[in-house]
Amino acid sequence: MQKYKIEEVVQALLADELVALPTETVYGLAANALSPTAVQKIFDVKGRPLIDPLIVHTHNVSAVEKLSVVPEIAYKLAEIFWPGPLTLVLQKTDLIPGIVTANLPSVGIRLPKHPIFREILIASNLPLAAPSANPFGYLSPTEAQHVEKTLGKKIKYIIDGGPCTIGLESTILNILNPDDPEILRPGPITAEDLEYVFGFRPRYTLRSAHKGSQISPGLLESHYSPHTPLKTFKSFSEIEPVEKMQEMSAIVFLKRPTTIRNSDKVKIFWLSEKGDLNEVSRNLFSLLEKLDNQELKDIFIELPKKKGLGIAICNRLERAAQRNKSVE
Ligand code: TXA
Ligand code: MG
Repeated sequence: MQKYKIEEVVQALLADELVALPTETVYGLAANALSPTAVQKIFDVKGRPLIDPLIVHTHNVSAVEKLSVVPEIAYKLAEIFWPGPLTLVLQKTDLIPGIVTANLPSVGIRLPKHPIFREILIASNLPLAAPSANPFGYLSPTEAQHVEKTLGKKIKYIIDGGPCTIGLESTILNILNPDDPEILRPGPITAEDLEYVFGFRPRYTLRSAHKGSQISPGLLESHYSPHTPLKTFKSFSEIEPVEKMQEMSAIVFLKRPTTIRNSDKVKIFWLSEKGDLNEVSRNLFSLLEKLDNQELKDIFIELPKKKGLGIAICNRLERAAQRNKSVE
């Protein structure tokens, strides 16, 4: 993959070009958030509907103050979780063009932690709109090679920062009403982490609750899906017996299984030697990407328990399986 100097990347962004770059969560497809022309290109390249708002990334809280109205609680959250995988939904200012937020009066903002992304934000002094760098509806990329494979023909600049350390997209927290915070997308900052700041646990807003409303259209779509049918299970006994399988399938466990082995009809995988959920997150999308290129009949994947980081992992897997039928 070609290497670029920071100055070249900054020039490209100033010239309304797109740049795919690493964040600690997943790779993002970045454009100058202040330029409607540049932002339009994000939607074109991803095949993303214009009703799906983008997250704006910046490098410090004073930039956030220019882009949005910042309630008191946001400063507290920023101190603890920024830079990092937390997106705050705040009331936007006129500085942000309507195309970025799907004409919503609010904007999702976060300060990413990845050193390359931070360096580019600082050097360019631009807020950067960046969704995950995948074609709309496909798995989020956690390595530069994933971006190259799916969007390489459409974009010139892909910055390789190695595999993402977190591997799951940021938590999205709506604090338009600071007294009634709601988690719109579970992520690496868990409800328990947020409870520590608020003194109570923010509620999750069920996707169906916002159906048809404008609050977060993107969150309604089936997402993160590989092309191979994906089926979730809580316990191995829910899967059809391995001896009856007709074609090659993969079974993915959270931790290394002790009794089940590869056979001529199944390939066995695990996301973490001991089932550590941070490791599971880090490996999840890249394993699914790899399996999606192996012409398997099905991918069966184990769901973690729905607490802590397990909530975000289940959320991604259940949505990925939505296209198909879960075996639950
Ligand atoms: O970790 C991440 O958040 C990554 C990296 C690149 O920062 N970005 C990411 O962006 O996952 P994207 O576009 O793939 O997902 C952003 C989600 C969308 O589903 C969108 O609906 C929601 O954020 N969102 C953005 N602005 C919003 C707003 N003003 N109100 C409610 N939801 C919003
Ligand atoms: Mg995305």
